Amino acid sequence: MNKVNIAVFGLGVVGSSLIKIIENNKCIIKDSKINIVGIKANNKNKKRIINTKKYNWIDNLSSLKDLKIDIIIEAVGGTDKFVNSLYQYAIKNKISLITANKAQLAEKGPRYFDQFDKENLFLGFEAAVLGAVPVVKSISDTILPKKIKSIYGIFNGTTNYILSQMYKNKISFKDSLNLAIKNGFAEQNSSSDLSGKDATHKLTLLSNLSFQQKFQFKDISYSGIENIKLIDLDYGLQLGYKLKLLSISEKIGSKFYSSVAPCFVNKDSVMANTEFEDNLCIIEGDDFVKTSLIGKGAGGFPTATSIISDLATYITTNNHKVFNSNYSSMPLASYVNQNARNRSYYIRLSVANKVGVLKTIAQFFAKKSISIKSIIQLNPDDSNTVPIVIISNVVSQKKIIEITKLLKKNNYIKNDISTIRLEDNIG
Ligand SMILES: NC(=O)c1ccc[n+]([C@@H]2O[C@H](COP(=O)([O-])OP(=O)(O)OC[C@H]3O[C@@H](n4cnc5c(N)ncnc54)[C@H](OP(=O)(O)O)[C@@H]3O)[C@@H](O)[C@H]2O)c1
Repeated sequence: MNKVNIAVFGLGVVGSSLIKIIENNKCIIKDSKINIVGIKANNKNKKRIINTKKYNWIDNLSSLKDLKIDIIIEAVGGTDKFVNSLYQYAIKNKISLITANKAQLAEKGPRYFDQFDKENLFLGFEAAVLGAVPVVKSISDTILPKKIKSIYGIFNGTTNYILSQMYKNKISFKDSLNLAIKNGFAEQNSSSDLSGKDATHKLTLLSNLSFQQKFQFKDISYSGIENIKLIDLDYGLQLGYKLKLLSISEKIGSKFYSSVAPCFVNKDSVMANTEFEDNLCIIEGDDFVKTSLIGKGAGGFPTATSIISDLATYITTNNHKVFNSNYSSMPLASYVNQNARNRSYYIRLSVANKVGVLKTIAQFFAKKSISIKSIIQLNPDDSNTVPIVIISNVVSQKKIIEITKLLKKNNYIKNDISTIRLEDNIG
């Protein structure tokens, strides 16, 4: 029987779950015997769901030499010195690597991808993308990347859980975040999830794979859900929309539109109905038209199953390229400017309860050449202010920023203005 020697770095949620799964499968994957030849975490004495005493503890990287490692499993996380030394060690010593660490790959990966390709080393990252959802495998094995026109979906389970709770329990963002922390779906510090950064890491990697071009994390704009208000979720629903943190990369001519932002989608769409910690990736292309993959986007065991899937790929393949073709010959992706992709927008204002206000607002929109699809006046907040929601016709984001600035200067407008992009034709 074929033997594969692995060393597991990081024994937290993902690393310990991986070892548990390997133990539960009697260490056999695809007719190969998986030997765990070493393990490593920060604290040797920490109590874990696995018995660490059964395994050889790695004190430092120099002690790896004698272990004859085929694959390093990196489930440490972050982009610090230790993680980078692990990648450098793997390349120098011609060892393949499987990782769950999207931050490292999206931010520091471009330093290493070419070297992994040149040395024909496997760099598996299914677990780093959508947890248990086999999106890398689906794109690599079944879809011709050249035919892909767009990939989009819900790439972060924490934010989807928070939004789902806000809808279900009619609670504020803050209360929903606390509930997510209590129920184990958010960390105490979830800033990378909430800001859209985590989803952008995943979008960067999936865009490289899908379009065979170099997408850089720093080039993709992102915004999160920290400022989403329950009132906008309610009004949106009344108009037939549900809010989701949408990750999207779309080909427009020879360029791309890539972003992560909270958007309204049609409330009957697959995306609107992907709830709680589930993730979704929709891939649209020429021949296959549309494929949707939904599943658990995080959690120890779901994520570890993707590491197992990568181990199986490593065992059954010989030619390894990180994104299925030479990274060095992939062109650098270029992006359309915001004006090339027009969408309708939801704009909520609180205005003074006075005669003539609506007419004044309509004049502002006319001045900026933004036509209004619908305008709805809602029940007054109090005797002095009335909320109104405007749905614009399709327009660039630039124009929406301009009109928001203009409206903010007007004395009739009270409080903040909410603007949310409508993506009513997708999902
Ligand atoms: N959790 C999920 O659901 C999930 C899903 C998809 C992807 N991921 C990714 O998987 C990776 C691991 O996540 P996790 O949730 O398993 O994290 P975690 O529970 O915090 O585990 C991290 C592990 O790394 C160890 N570690 C930290 N610094 C180290 C160092 N300098 N040297 C050696 N070991 C070190 C820690 O040691 P101690 O235990 O001794 O502190 C811990 O065992 C991250 O990149 C994350 O983004 C996680």
